[in-house]
Amino acid sequence: MTTATTERSFNVSDALKLTGRVCVVTGAASGMGYEIVRGFAQSDARGIAMIDINDDLGEKVRGELSAEFPNVTFKYYHLNISEYEDVQKIYAQIVEDFGEINVQVSCAGIAGYTAAVDHTPETWHKVLNVNLHGTFWTAQAAGRQMIKQNKGGSIIIIGSISAHVVNRPDFQPGLSNYCISKGACVQMAKVLGVEWAQHNIRVNSLSPGNMKTPLAPTDEKSINFFNHYTPLGRMGAAWEVAGAAVYLASDASSFQTSTDILVDGGLVHW
Ligand SMILES: NC(=O)c1ccc[n+]([C@@H]2O[C@H](COP(=O)([O-])OP(=O)(O)OC[C@H]3O[C@@H](n4cnc5c(N)ncnc54)[C@H](O)[C@@H]3O)[C@@H](O)[C@H]2O)c1
Repeated sequence: MTTATTERSFNVSDALKLTGRVCVVTGAASGMGYEIVRGFAQSDARGIAMIDINDDLGEKVRGELSAEFPNVTFKYYHLNISEYEDVQKIYAQIVEDFGEINVQVSCAGIAGYTAAVDHTPETWHKVLNVNLHGTFWTAQAAGRQMIKQNKGGSIIIIGSISAHVVNRPDFQPGLSNYCISKGACVQMAKVLGVEWAQHNIRVNSLSPGNMKTPLAPTDEKSINFFNHYTPLGRMGAAWEVAGAAVYLASDASSFQTSTDILVDGGLVHW
């Protein structure tokens, strides 16, 4: 939303606020999507559209957040992000409900565990339909709306360390299409950021490391492995991505587009 300024009146703590903004978050019922919603509410967003397919959990956390943050309007929407026509309908509904979209976070994602040699079209497309196609359809729907509004915006695509390194097959076997989908997400942010720079729409990706969420393995062997192979010596908590998401959503990152922020405890460098 910000235009370039050389004025010394710039104040970074004000710039980190999302006051008046309408934010859309996919995968908002659980894990990092939920924590990003909380971060946006704490940063004074006006409204937050929460998208998920887990309706019971989505409605439950929406109710809790509404009670905790009475000045923020939260609405929950059932949407399978893989379904192109449904994406169009729900984004039109969000615009009708909130009037505009200023921030989009495409966070919903799934993992699938199949050895590369065993993939069938079914197992292959299951992960790609959500992590690649659904991520694109939601970013596109938000981008179309932001272009129409003609006042810029920020889009955040959740990538992964799996876009940068390969999950070790001896500890996490069968993540080929997951890694491929996440590599595509990081490249998607670069491409869209360049294509939509003319509209002052910034598009960046945020790549978490091994985070404690329902998506991640919870067995002792995996946790020991994650702790050992992360320089900070532990897995991340889901809320530890919220700061980077607020930064990317806000005017504090006004000159940043087509880049990736790793929140991984140093993992990819070790
Ligand atoms: N947990 C990790 O270690 C880790 C690491 C790097 C990246 N990521 C990525 O972070 C993102 C969030 O994952 P998380 O770990 O918080 O997991 P999570 O399972 O807690 O959250 C994912 C949410 O997405 C929703 N979802 C799944 N498919 C959907 C669909 N088709 N349409 C709409 N919603 C759908 C789920 O219902 C769930 O609420 C994912 O893109 C994941 O790939 C996770």
